Amino acid sequence: MNDSKLLYFGTNTKMYKTNEETRAFLTELLKLTADLNPDDARLFVIPSFTALTDARKILNASPIKLGAQNICWEDAGEYTGEISPVMLKEIGVDIVEIGHSERRHIFGETDDQAEKKVRAAINHGMTALLCIGETNEQKDYGIQDEVLSMQLKIGLHSITGSEAAKALWIAYEPVWAIGVNGVPISKSYAQDRHAHIRKVLIDLFGEETGSRIPVLYGGSVNMDNALLLMSDPNINGLFVGRSAWEAANFNKMLRSILNR
Ligand code: 13P
Repeated sequence: MNDSKLLYFGTNTKMYKTNEETRAFLTELLKLTADLNPDDARLFVIPSFTALTDARKILNASPIKLGAQNICWEDAGEYTGEISPVMLKEIGVDIVEIGHSERRHIFGETDDQAEKKVRAAINHGMTALLCIGETNEQKDYGIQDEVLSMQLKIGLHSITGSEAAKALWIAYEPVWAIGVNGVPISKSYAQDRHAHIRKVLIDLFGEETGSRIPVLYGGSVNMDNALLLMSDPNINGLFVGRSAWEAANFNKMLRSILNR
């Protein structure tokens, strides 16, 4: 549930940090952010699966939330290479990232699978962080809002209002803005998309819940555009990749937003 004053801020380390590197990153991040009031910022880190167990021990009871980068919708079974919600829950994962652009576009994940994953994460008491975003081609055709509506309506198909209020975050991450070849988004384009996402969430869950689901922006977020993006009331936080993979940079960007 989003309190408009609360900043959501975190990073997905993709396939970049080993267990040892994740441990070092989290140890430094904990020191740098120890003075923060958890009522001001909801921080989260989403490392590789192999780092989750140690990450949980390091974060211990700290307010920094721990996320997993993917989930299988089944609890157990013949699904070689998959990680089940039961396994994530056993480690003490708080958040599950679902439908990231790289999962959809490199590994062919569909909205239908995203829906089953959202369902599984919520059933097992974790927060589902559903990632949505249009490709460059879809933007060129002018169908970005249709794409976002579809991703939300399918991905959240079985989710009730009370589940959404308790255990759902959305990340808008346009595919063309993500990663080393990504193009930073303009403020007005981000504003228009976030207004649309908010409208769809209100259509799905009603004014009270839909207006309070945290919606984060991600894709080439950096020190230069973080404050500009956060000036939009429909953007409740930032989901950062490259620019947050050094704990000092994570902390610097976070402070610049909190002190704005
Ligand atoms: P970049 O910030 O590196 O573009 O990545 C964003 C992202 O994919 C967060 O999930």
